[in-house]
Amino acid sequence: MQTVELIHKKRDGKELTTEEIRHLVQGYASGTIPDYQMSAWAMAVFFQGMTSRERAALTMEMVHSGEVVNLDSIQGIKVDKHSTGGVGDTTTLVLGPLVAAAGVPVAKLSGRGLGHTGGTIDKLESFEGFSTSLTTDAFVKQVNELGVAVMGQTADLTPADKQLYGLRDVTATVDSIPLIASSIMSKKIAAGANGIVLDVKTGKGAFMKDEEHAVELAQAMVEIGSHVGRKTVAIISDMEQPLGLAIGNALEAKEAIDTLKGEGPADLTEICLTLGAHMVVIGGKAKTAEEARHLLEEKIADGSALAKFREFIEAQGGNGGAIDDPSQLAQAHHLIEVKAPAAGTVAALEAEEIGICAMMLGAGRETKDAVIDHAVGIVLAKKVGDRVEEGEVLAVLHANDQSKVAEVKERFLKAVTLSDKPSSPPRLIRALVTEQGVTTL
Ligand code: URA
Ligand code: CA
Repeated sequence: MQTVELIHKKRDGKELTTEEIRHLVQGYASGTIPDYQMSAWAMAVFFQGMTSRERAALTMEMVHSGEVVNLDSIQGIKVDKHSTGGVGDTTTLVLGPLVAAAGVPVAKLSGRGLGHTGGTIDKLESFEGFSTSLTTDAFVKQVNELGVAVMGQTADLTPADKQLYGLRDVTATVDSIPLIASSIMSKKIAAGANGIVLDVKTGKGAFMKDEEHAVELAQAMVEIGSHVGRKTVAIISDMEQPLGLAIGNALEAKEAIDTLKGEGPADLTEICLTLGAHMVVIGGKAKTAEEARHLLEEKIADGSALAKFREFIEAQGGNGGAIDDPSQLAQAHHLIEVKAPAAGTVAALEAEEIGICAMMLGAGRETKDAVIDHAVGIVLAKKVGDRVEEGEVLAVLHANDQSKVAEVKERFLKAVTLSDKPSSPPRLIRALVTEQGVTTL
């Protein structure tokens, strides 16, 4: 098979066969196809797109380029959740124990965050002693016994995706929907899930800035999932402003505890119930999303979701006492109030800028090896749509290093828009995307 012929074919808008896609992915991964040919192909895809069969073939070729996690020894239907990123997204911490309490096994491989705030592992490590270095056997055993476990990703999953993503990053071919969809789905499928619930964010703080493209990406991923026998649904959710009130690792751990007690912020609670309900339906523990949602609400109200969180934290060596007494989580030395310069209604809280503010305080990594400060971050006091008086607190900065505080305060205030007109909170959940189609909510 001549690689140049395949580039030619895609350049002219024709469909490649599964064998042709295999030739490209395997050739690139093994080094027989050079970067320049693979970039030309990626650029052809950028302009011509891919059919749904081609996307599924690309996804599965990337899955088979590395290890595939086998979760067969875990009983039940394993449902994974993936979010396309955002600021202060505390959902994974809440959903693990919540969904497990409803009887759906959660076997999560996770990574550390490179970005504004930490990843799931960083957030969980806010519980002193918590470790994600489990053997596969211990991981499987814990899911079978407790219903939930989080393991640090050690396996070499989807190396072809890693390589192709690196190439796309420097050839202006990242923002191609078929390539993004195949990239994300390959990682989820290699991680062993039977079913996948996606949270595709839209807005200034998200990868997909506008709703139309977010829906298109969600549709592409749902279609890949059903093509390869993984039941997949997606919601489209708002990421104009941060999710919940807390941004920062221990602060989000506390926010997760509050949410599992039924005392969390309304938006975080709503998104967790929505995503969790779809996980429970796919996991076979309820017939409809409404029924699943009631089940989850029950698990919060009767304390079993919170109890599951404690069991899970303790099983992995963490200090479960912090669940009853969150002051045992890492605490910052300095709490600095940011006050409103004028009265008005909060019209915007730019998620990405606020994420950067949290990172400047030490909540995230600017480089891969940077050390995270679990204690620091930001707790919002107001969200979009809220009324504030002049001098009223907009947010509290939790800092250890005071040298950045003045700069962070200034940057935070620039990320806030106050208006003299009333403004309403953004619609949090915009649409549901399933195999059957898109439902606007
Ligand atoms: N995230 C991914 O994992 N892959 C992409 O291609 C883009 C975002
Ligand atoms: Ca949050």
